[in-house]
Amino acid sequence: MGSALESLNIHRADDYARDGHPWQAWDRLRREAPVYWYERHDIEPFWAVTRHADILTVSNHPEVFINGGPRLRLCLKHEVEPMRGGLDTFGTERGWDADEPPDLVFMDNPRHRLVRRQSSWAYTQGAMRSMRPHFRALAEAFTAEFIEELEQASARGDTVDFVHGLAAKLPLAAVGEIMGLAPDDWKQILVWSEAVVGEIRESNRLPGESRGRAYYRNMVEFRSYLEDLIEEARLNGRERGGLIDRMVHTPVQGQLLTNQQLNGYILTLIGAGNDTTRNAFSGGVEALLQHPAQCQRLCEEPELMPQAVEEILRWTSPVGSFLRTAAQDFELAGTAIAAGDTVGLFYPSANRDEAVFEDPYRFDITRTSNPHLTFGFGAHFCLGTNLARAELAASLEALLPHLSRLELCGTPRRLVQSHVIGYAELPMRLRRGS
Ligand code: HEM
Repeated sequence: MGSALESLNIHRADDYARDGHPWQAWDRLRREAPVYWYERHDIEPFWAVTRHADILTVSNHPEVFINGGPRLRLCLKHEVEPMRGGLDTFGTERGWDADEPPDLVFMDNPRHRLVRRQSSWAYTQGAMRSMRPHFRALAEAFTAEFIEELEQASARGDTVDFVHGLAAKLPLAAVGEIMGLAPDDWKQILVWSEAVVGEIRESNRLPGESRGRAYYRNMVEFRSYLEDLIEEARLNGRERGGLIDRMVHTPVQGQLLTNQQLNGYILTLIGAGNDTTRNAFSGGVEALLQHPAQCQRLCEEPELMPQAVEEILRWTSPVGSFLRTAAQDFELAGTAIAAGDTVGLFYPSANRDEAVFEDPYRFDITRTSNPHLTFGFGAHFCLGTNLARAELAASLEALLPHLSRLELCGTPRRLVQSHVIGYAELPMRLRRGS
């Protein structure tokens, strides 16, 4: 007999920082209570949905399970949910509308569909196909820099952090170019977008500043920067030629988006693709190094790349969950959900569901059926899937010739959050004699 389900923990950022994905807890929930009323002293209760099929059912009913309710991300009772937090004095000083959703993720149809369309054209398969050679060139250059850094560090007996040394670079450059951001600003944007998701490094804290204050200061700086860009685009037309210019000048249902709407929307487009894609890349390279036979196979058969990318996405599952609010009563897999209840969709758990994936804990880059839910499903299905896939393929292709020289070493440090799961630091060195 295992311990009671009440002892399982799937909501605390500190636990994710220490142990990573709570795979065993999710396994038990799928087996014993796939739609489980999760009540703990430090979080408002919610239904934890852990099976692939049930997550699909919820995602297929966006009119029942809405995004526009009070909760979208797991948060402890005293915490302010990320993205909602930045609107307080920054917004009130500018007379922003408190009832306006912070960004498109918080919207429901029909408005969500219209607002999403304003940027989705920039992330289609076709758009990404034309950017592939450019991504490849960027990835080659970043990889060469990283290998040189590794060689110098190894000569000193040192290690290099894979996350900031390589994995963070292409997602940032790609988003910078798509949005039309000045390359000189990218480094600072990385600092802000890390802070927005709670990753505040010591070097990003003013003397005596608490984490909470540092978070808020970063959010205000990021929003002020975007405010200036939006203002500039309004004045100068489509001068920079990036997505920001297009968004400022393209009406939705005959009306241009307001500064408030644009600010949240652009912040999300910049932030959503950074941590997520980099975690998939760093977790994917870790998996390849831990599974040498798979790694060798990919090096010998690079045509397996599309399948390898899908397996890495399933394996690393960087987004832990999203929450929904039931707008009406609903029966989910025999469990009565009442209107007003919160429902948590645990995508990584779906990606280890034995009912869908054969031997789900086997890392297998030749998997042919891989209907993972890493990007969610339905109306809010990740807008950046084509971009993330293109970046991952380009990054891996550039790194393949060097993989056999890389070695994991030291202790990785994980992100302190339950929403995006992955490494804040992943130390590596060159193999001896390589
Ligand atoms: C491996 C990388 C990524 C992962 C794992 C990921 C995962 C997700 C997930 C799980 C959702 C919610 C889906 C749902 O509710 O059904 C989402 C939404 C979203 N993602 Fe991604 N994402 C990634 C990369 C990106 C990139 C590169 C962008 C850049 C544009 C992006 C932009 C967005 C946006 C804007 C949404 C909200 C869509 C909406 O509400 O309509 N993501 N993503």
